[in-house]
Amino acid sequence: MLSHLLHLGGISSVVLEARSRAYCEERVRAGVLEHTSVAMLREAGVAERLEREGLRHGGIELGVNRKRYRIPFVELTGKCVTVYGQQEVVKDLIARRLADGGDLRFECGNVSLHDIDHEKPRIRVENNGAVDEISCEYVAGCDGFHGISRTAIPDGVLTVYERAYPFAWLGILAEAAPSREELLYMHHERGFALYSMRSPKITRLYLQCKPDEDIDDWSDDRIWGELQTRLECLDGWEPTQGNILQKGVTGMRSFVVEPLQYGRLFLAGDAAHIVPPTGAKGMNLAFADVHHLAAAFEAFYSKNNDSKLRAYSTACLDRIWKAQRFSWWMTSLMHRFEDEPPFDHKRQLAELEYVTSSRAAATCLAENYVGLPFGDA
Ligand code: DHB
Repeated sequence: MLSHLLHLGGISSVVLEARSRAYCEERVRAGVLEHTSVAMLREAGVAERLEREGLRHGGIELGVNRKRYRIPFVELTGKCVTVYGQQEVVKDLIARRLADGGDLRFECGNVSLHDIDHEKPRIRVENNGAVDEISCEYVAGCDGFHGISRTAIPDGVLTVYERAYPFAWLGILAEAAPSREELLYMHHERGFALYSMRSPKITRLYLQCKPDEDIDDWSDDRIWGELQTRLECLDGWEPTQGNILQKGVTGMRSFVVEPLQYGRLFLAGDAAHIVPPTGAKGMNLAFADVHHLAAAFEAFYSKNNDSKLRAYSTACLDRIWKAQRFSWWMTSLMHRFEDEPPFDHKRQLAELEYVTSSRAAATCLAENYVGLPFGDA
């Protein structure tokens, strides 16, 4: 996305990707786009397929004790979200960059950053059996939590803020036509479950599980049995079952480093911050970062004004922390915490009752879920 935005602003870039194109295009990740992310893709001219195939959702449902309550986003905020897999966004962006003659290099190995605190940083990279050295003006570290860019920053520069959760998500993609129109986030005595979808033929479901859960312990029958138990509702609704196409375990963590910049290296997305998945903020947060970063580079290259580059970290962190707060809150609201004091469980149930019965509380959830404004100066 950043490379495409820079291209629109007449700025050239090289994208170095460790994985293959096929891997990037097939890897299943989250699938909810905030209205802000959709607007960004539309304005950048890369939303054609998204407009055609994306599922527009005007609300979500919260389930408590087998009863469902709707949070009507459009009524409360005038906005909706769009369900469209992250890998579909990736496919569209790769296709567009290649069509525009973009320099995308897949299957790069041994990438290392040098002189990031000097005028001309260098990137050393192995690609197609050869070692290349790229000399550049700036480096954008958009390489995820396990990437190399954050670790290229010297010790003592970054402050790390972190929280771990005592559970993970077991996620499946199933060949089953969704039998609900909207996502259902279910709080259940046995643990959280989420009913989501990707298309009129494919459902996406998640179960709260142990943080170190071994996926091999979960046969398809066991997964469906547990989903059935947690999701079935008093009115008789239950998830439609089908062939499981893909399954995996997703860890849960909140993590932020500050600042997002060192010398000529700018961190964006998961390289700088991760959220637990509840509320689907990960990719949306990364989009907000690159919105600010692209605008800052444009101001620098077209007006020789580096004030936005210098303010990049501050511009992003305000919204990053609001999304951290929201993801932590949704996670705390919906999951079962093992061995929690009875007071905390009662407080959690009271909060669920409040969110599902108060327009003010539901509006607070809704405006965060559909996406807070980017906060452009
Ligand atoms: C999905 C993932 C999420 O983390 C979420 O909160 C909602 C939906 C999904 O993959 O569909």
